[in-house]
Amino acid sequence: MTKVLMVCLGNICRSPLAEGILQSKLSLESFFVDSAGTGDWHIGSQPDKRSIAVAKKYNIDLTTQRARQFKVKDFDTFDRIYVMDRSNYDNVIKLAPTNEAKSKVKLILNEITPGQNTEVPDPYFGGEDGFEHVYQLLDEVCNVIAKDLKS
Ligand code: 4NP
Repeated sequence: MTKVLMVCLGNICRSPLAEGILQSKLSLESFFVDSAGTGDWHIGSQPDKRSIAVAKKYNIDLTTQRARQFKVKDFDTFDRIYVMDRSNYDNVIKLAPTNEAKSKVKLILNEITPGQNTEVPDPYFGGEDGFEHVYQLLDEVCNVIAKDLKS
């Protein structure tokens, strides 16, 4: 079982979408996909209603997800940890106890634009179109990640 963790700040906008999208491209018998936030404000909350709505448009259900905070034990549990932006990257790397743990952490869009350190923009303070844009970015990169995981 290969385990993948998606990480953003609040675990209510971007990483729940990344979790749902990647899950939809993989067999859940062989892969476990989860998400977490580096912050603690939204622990226990459902994803943002705008993330739920954009996912629903593409037949992905996020309503059973609940936000949780990233924890040091996640470095043991997960094989790959994908972060959405450079601030998430710094916050997760700061908690890594070993170099092996650090090596699991990747900026997600580097899977399609290697070395560019492009960020998935935080759509929280914007409008609905920001959520569509985030969906499209994550759908594109999750195609590449799913193909790689299955090969
Ligand atoms: P996320 O978006 O990191 O994609 O879940 C955010 C959600 C909430 C906040 C910031 C970003 N907030 O400041 O509460």
